[in-house]
Amino acid sequence: MATIDKEPETGLASLIRKESCPEAYGWRVVGPTNLSDPLQHVENIRGFKIRDDDVILAAYPKCGTHWVWEITHMLLRQTTDYEKRCKEQVMLESNGGIARCEKEESPRIINSHFVFAHLPQEIIAKKSKIIHVWRNPKDTLVSFYYHYKSVIVDSRFTFSDVLETSMADKFTIHTQFEYLQQMSKFEEDHPDHPIIHLCYEEMKKEPIKVIQELARFLKVPADDEFCRKVADACSFENMKVINQSGQKMFPAEFSVSRGPGHKNPEIYRKGVVGDWKNHFTVSENERYDMIINRAGEKGLKFKFIYQ
Ligand code: A3P
Repeated sequence: MATIDKEPETGLASLIRKESCPEAYGWRVVGPTNLSDPLQHVENIRGFKIRDDDVILAAYPKCGTHWVWEITHMLLRQTTDYEKRCKEQVMLESNGGIARCEKEESPRIINSHFVFAHLPQEIIAKKSKIIHVWRNPKDTLVSFYYHYKSVIVDSRFTFSDVLETSMADKFTIHTQFEYLQQMSKFEEDHPDHPIIHLCYEEMKKEPIKVIQELARFLKVPADDEFCRKVADACSFENMKVINQSGQKMFPAEFSVSRGPGHKNPEIYRKGVVGDWKNHFTVSENERYDMIINRAGEKGLKFKFIYQ
């Protein structure tokens, strides 16, 4: 297993790509920032053993992964009780994630922000059900900004700093557009693979309808009343209360791997559609639209909803 032996950097610099940033299978390695052997980490995850009934929750960060993880738990376990652990416990690439996932009871809901090239390759042969969550890139970036603000102790950076860094593609993490493109490519290459795409904005608008669709995809019973209860239990307000109550703790290794200068993230911030309007200036918005349009010209299949 990969170990941690480097002093992490602090501030926004800790998230900006270095010349020496390792790549595997054509993608930069994203994950715990201070692994001694990031390439081995990717190999360990690619070789992770998949069970027949595993469900894979795949998303670009800040698109609503925690929300869907909780909903999926309730549907698979046929309960409206909250899952006792937090999503990070079974986040495959997190520090100690593989060992925790191996101990998990079936059916597992394994979540990851990794691209397919870095995910367990057995997912393909086993045709594991994949739940993909996506969100408009402007709100995603705003959510990222606050995520970084909560994670990094030296948080003297502005939204514009994060936006400029993202537009210049200088973060270690690949862009949301690249993530979505590789998702579409995976579908083209594996047309029979069961994948459901859940759109954050549609979930906000019609949560019960989306929960019903997800239940059908998972092939679990879910009448209207149950779906309504799940939607209510997993509303932003209720999930925020549950998570702030301290019932769901981050795994110890997850916290340790962040090292000095970093804290655990605050996930439940605002949970709305369109907060980007409070953050982008008119000219920033125009420039970001150009980037989105350019991604569209390259064949991006997702049509974003902004309000
Ligand atoms: P904001 O920062 O815009 O509030 P992820 O889980 O992928 O890290 O995504 C986090 C984003 O999802 C945050 O967005 C968070 O508030 C939002 N979120 C989490 N739970 C939610 C819920 N139950 N309903 C709506 N949004 C939720």
